[in-house]
Amino acid sequence: MLKILAIETSCDETAAAVIGLEHASPIVLSSVVSSQAKLHAAWGGVIPNLAAREHVKNIIPMVESALHEASLTPQAIDAIAVTEGPGLIPALLVGVSAAKTLALAWQKPLLGVNHLEGHIYANLFTPGSALRFPLLALIVSGGHTQLILMRDHFLYQLLGETEDDAAGEAFDKVARMFGLPYPGGPEIGKRADAFRLAEPAFSTKRFPRPMLSSDNYQFSFSGLKTAVLYSLKKESAERLTDTGFIAEMAHEFQEAVVDTLVGKTERAIQEYQPKTLVIAGGVSANARLRERMETMIADYSDCQFLMPPFQYSLDNAAMIGAAAILRYDRMTESDREQLQQHASSLEPSAHFPLA
Ligand code: KG4
Ligand code: ZN
Repeated sequence: MLKILAIETSCDETAAAVIGLEHASPIVLSSVVSSQAKLHAAWGGVIPNLAAREHVKNIIPMVESALHEASLTPQAIDAIAVTEGPGLIPALLVGVSAAKTLALAWQKPLLGVNHLEGHIYANLFTPGSALRFPLLALIVSGGHTQLILMRDHFLYQLLGETEDDAAGEAFDKVARMFGLPYPGGPEIGKRADAFRLAEPAFSTKRFPRPMLSSDNYQFSFSGLKTAVLYSLKKESAERLTDTGFIAEMAHEFQEAVVDTLVGKTERAIQEYQPKTLVIAGGVSANARLRERMETMIADYSDCQFLMPPFQYSLDNAAMIGAAAILRYDRMTESDREQLQQHASSLEPSAHFPLA
């Protein structure tokens, strides 16, 4: 069985995994993640140099535990994969340097992988899943909001993206306004979901649905963020610390984001008639987004809907290994030799484009 050791350090998770290929599908032999979220929470967001320092501490232990959990020695690994970008350069550099060193020491081919490609291929960890093309991917992470059309494996066409904040970034910034800790997405999600359960009939639309009716696939979340800010400014100090009020605002904000994401995705489904819809990136862990996408896609019976298992929605190395092993499997012997010869020339890229 082909086996790849994968490393991910693009933001605030140090992660390593071993991925195998069975019946042409990637399987997780091990996957370990060390999250720095608590450390960065004190600053309200990720500090790149602090992230890099933590990656330096954690990268070797993570690689060791990934190999240990898979009960494999370095000799048994066919190749090494690492996130090349996009991401924070100081953070990416740690993973890339470690991967280059291991590739040279162990004489293995080295593959650089796009982080967003990894998020898309995390959908293959959903039991029984297969990607059928054309495929529409909604990428929603802390750094990206993009609608991507794939006509085949590794062929990406950008349909549209955010013109300002990413969806996850908007969750994080608005959470801060609500006095909630970083990362804000799960915090807002929890409160909004609890509010909806308690008040199922509640339906004011306090906030705008940015660009929902515009005739394109662009997104914008900074106006929504400002609308939340202005609406908080009108409130008394007591209201701002009232957990019930914050839950209501969290619900209103989440509905505005989800309406926009689902609406734009549905427009793309009508135009491109994909056979698969996937959601990818940290915000794909959002329960309301998952539920609303499932409801929407029920009207399009020719399109299957995939979402990554919860633990592979957030940053991890298994997804990097999944994309890498499918690429590696398609390569000739001479392609693989090239990867080994050029291992030392791999450099991280902050804005590594997918399409
Ligand atoms: O993909 P990811 O782990 O890292 C990047 O590549 O950016 O995404 C992180 C983002 C953060 O902004 C976080 O707040 C958001 O994903 N996120 C969520 C949820 N879980 C994580 N947003 C909304 N609801 C969630 N449950
Ligand atoms: Zn990510």
